[in-house]
Amino acid sequence: MIQIGIDYYPEHWDASLWEKDLAQMEAIGVSCVRVAEFAWAKLEPQEGSFDFAWLDEAVEAIARHGMKVILCTPTNCPPDWLYRQYPDCLQWNTEQGPTYTGIRGHRCQSSPVFRGHVERIVSALAQRYANHPAVYAWQLDNEIETNQCVCPSCREKFQAWCREKYGTLENLNRCWGTDVWSGQYSDWSQLRPHTKLAGYQIGWYNPAYILDWERFGASVTAEYAAFQAGIIRRYKPDAIITTNACFSPVNQTDLHLEFQSLNVAAYDNYPPVRLPEDSEEVYSAAFGLDLIRGLKRKNFWILEQLGGPGGCWGPMAPNLEPGMLEGYALQAVAHGADLVSFFRWRTAVSGAEMFCHGLLDHSGKPNRRLRELCQAVQTLQKHPYLDKTTLVSPVALLYGANQAFALRNQRQSDGFRYWTQPQLLHEACGNLGVNVDVIEEAQSLAGYHVVLVPVHTVVNAKTVENLYAFARDGGTVVLTDRCGVKNEYGNCIGGEELPTVFAALAGCHVEEYDPIGQQKQEILGKNGKTYAITSWCDLLQCDSAEPIARYLGRYYDGTPAITKNSYGKGCVYYIGTVGEKAMYRDLLLEIFRALGIAVQEQLPRGVEITTRSGEGGTYRFTFNNTAAPVCFPLGGEEIRLKPLEMRIDVM
Ligand code: GAL
Repeated sequence: MIQIGIDYYPEHWDASLWEKDLAQMEAIGVSCVRVAEFAWAKLEPQEGSFDFAWLDEAVEAIARHGMKVILCTPTNCPPDWLYRQYPDCLQWNTEQGPTYTGIRGHRCQSSPVFRGHVERIVSALAQRYANHPAVYAWQLDNEIETNQCVCPSCREKFQAWCREKYGTLENLNRCWGTDVWSGQYSDWSQLRPHTKLAGYQIGWYNPAYILDWERFGASVTAEYAAFQAGIIRRYKPDAIITTNACFSPVNQTDLHLEFQSLNVAAYDNYPPVRLPEDSEEVYSAAFGLDLIRGLKRKNFWILEQLGGPGGCWGPMAPNLEPGMLEGYALQAVAHGADLVSFFRWRTAVSGAEMFCHGLLDHSGKPNRRLRELCQAVQTLQKHPYLDKTTLVSPVALLYGANQAFALRNQRQSDGFRYWTQPQLLHEACGNLGVNVDVIEEAQSLAGYHVVLVPVHTVVNAKTVENLYAFARDGGTVVLTDRCGVKNEYGNCIGGEELPTVFAALAGCHVEEYDPIGQQKQEILGKNGKTYAITSWCDLLQCDSAEPIARYLGRYYDGTPAITKNSYGKGCVYYIGTVGEKAMYRDLLLEIFRALGIAVQEQLPRGVEITTRSGEGGTYRFTFNNTAAPVCFPLGGEEIRLKPLEMRIDVM
């Protein structure tokens, strides 16, 4: 069975309400309850003096109702007494001193002093609960973002990390290219953490240094998660441990690295409540879900699923449209979620998130959203073997934290974002009914027929090698603009035309490029169609490749924009620009047809199809991810779907 969970904060409510809440959850068919996420102060009101009575009672009550517990380490919210007594636990945003806004999450993940306190609270929890029969799994901390702290401890660790990586300062200076602007370092102590100084744009700094600073932060975060997991495993070696990742283009860590020490990949899924009117905007949550499944190439969990309108730090978001709560939860399942836990049961009546709504409003009375949750559970109960299936994908899409780090700090043109092209390619697959795995760039490509390589800017040697071998052996590779731009240190590869290391594979090179930013232009495909393009234009020169689309207008009218090359037994496409959705859809359709990959050609915009298969059977999920009803033919039938409606067909 796919498991349904609830994020519950017993410490926010009078214990007299617990019974009622848990009985209701049980009646709905909830199987697990996530607790204790931010409750450090309640668990350890004074240093070394624990109060587990309330949690014991909550765990027992959950168990009495036949549900399992996902227990959280509360380390995102150290108590006030701890910060006061041990200011070394605090995160520093500037080198002038710690940041303490009195809200949450301002701990330094690397501070040895903080780690000592983490060790105490996590050990105490693990000792008491790890072998409790009701405790099913553990969530570490909350949405652990890349460590950005610049405290003295982080500074020293950054210096040591650089020393370990580069050995000598000469080497570091060479690899970082510090000759520019007298940037040479002559002593390790000169290496400083990157502080976001007011008025200074990140683009002023040496990008190679910033890239390593980001990598260092991600390594601290991964090590912080591994440290916590290690404590729990001391008490229960086979504990199921995870953390709730979020998809944040601004401060996302290297999730692949972070989850290496954890047992299951897990995600907080908050899809948009207001669907954009611009049909070209990519908003589907599907990309994030496939990325999380790709972390372990296994099914995953949702630890926070949209349960009500948000409104914690900004104005309240619109309420969920009818169908949204159920549709989005089933969309997560369609992409491989085996457990979906909703954020949260009751809406808090106090604290910063009092208007960040859970399933129930402040009244606590059953409502439309709860009824939808019941419906989602009933839908899933009709398919009890779904958890014995997964997504088998003919297509891999490569993503890399290094690319995200490099590109978020150095926009390539006005409005250019790393995620745009991966998401456009990804969405086209879903709209053609083709499963796609979003995998870390250096992973094995065995078993795939097509590999999409959007914006592989920072060259990873292993990836390059894999791609050449993949095409040689008959695979199809799709490269895009900004591939092959930089070496592994984040400096431009000089002396070769773009796409440098990929040129032989693509059979073309970039003669000039035009970073057109928000401007709109057009290309004409060999298929006779014109497509709107924006953001970037590589003016391509074919070597062995043939052009399959050319620019229209400007001084490069007629210049190749998209090419196709034969390489070994395979085929390589190079997309030199950023197109409208139809461009990706038509191109991928041509590729899939040529390879005999089954496609659904007639899906309207915004309709996504994925298939889960395995021991438990084969299930086709058809999701209308738009605000309008749709009607279309599928497998000889006329399908009608309401806004955000999911249809599950047993095949
Ligand atoms: C999540 C976070 C939750 C809660 C929620 C509100 O990112 O993990 O604790 O703040 O956002 O939408």
